[in-house]
Amino acid sequence: MSGIDIKNLTKRYGALTVLKDINLTVRAGEFVAIVGPSGCGKSTLLKIIAGLEKGSGDVLVGGRPVQGPDSRHILVLQEHALYPWRTVEENISLGPEIQGWPEAKRKERVNQLIEAVGLSGFNHYYPHQISGGMCQRVSLARAFIMEPEVLLLDEPFGALDALTRMDLQQQLLRLWQMRSATVVLVTHDVEEALLLADTVMVMEGHPGRFAGRFAISLPRPERRRASEIVNLKSEILDLLCRPNAAMLTAQAC
Ligand SMILES: Nc1ncnc2c1ncn2[C@@H]1O[C@H](COP(=O)(O)OP(=O)(O)O)[C@@H](O)[C@H]1O
Ligand SMILES: [Mg+2]
Repeated sequence: MSGIDIKNLTKRYGALTVLKDINLTVRAGEFVAIVGPSGCGKSTLLKIIAGLEKGSGDVLVGGRPVQGPDSRHILVLQEHALYPWRTVEENISLGPEIQGWPEAKRKERVNQLIEAVGLSGFNHYYPHQISGGMCQRVSLARAFIMEPEVLLLDEPFGALDALTRMDLQQQLLRLWQMRSATVVLVTHDVEEALLLADTVMVMEGHPGRFAGRFAISLPRPERRRASEIVNLKSEILDLLCRPNAAMLTAQAC
């Protein structure tokens, strides 16, 4: 498992400074959530950690500078991006096929993952035959089967209704607890961040930087009912709605 170390990261697109002097340490196996207003650079930060974009400064994963995309560091996006012509089972086994796993191991692991995300019996369904929430379960299974050292999730549940979202959050927690990856989850949902993460980082925009860091040590999933979560939520929303960020956080407020 790998931790993440980011020091003085700045990212510009032409004249626009998207990220300025970002410092972030994520311990190996830690679950960090990042919340912030739209456009503050959250996706850009994930892409830089994933090696899909470059900035100036140091970005280390597992102690090594990120040079480019690495199959041990997986990025899961909001759009589940399953292959429509492959079944549930075939979508999940894509990575193992590319890596040439022996068929017996592949089948065994695919079935384990299908069971872990509660999709037993749907092995031979195509994406258009199952719901959006089920497709996103397939995405999680497809990511976790590769036993990623680092899992980067960019608003993975953004398009789902509240109940499906709660269900997927629990699936994600279970998979993370089973497989222990280092996770960075970007979400616009403060409550989701507080329910899932060990540490919540709050960003502000223009240029994107961290405005706050909150460690949450309450046990999951019981913390959903803890009064501390309610207090932390209003503290984070206050931070997101500070006057100097008011223009950018209209949605969050
Ligand atoms: N490839 C790009 N070229 C130019 N500007 C970009 C590019 N990608 C993102 N940006 C700009 O960078 C800023 C941050 O974008 P993004 O990281 O997507 O924010 P977030 O994910 O927090 O909503 C936005 O102003 C966006 O327009
Ligand atoms: Mg984004």
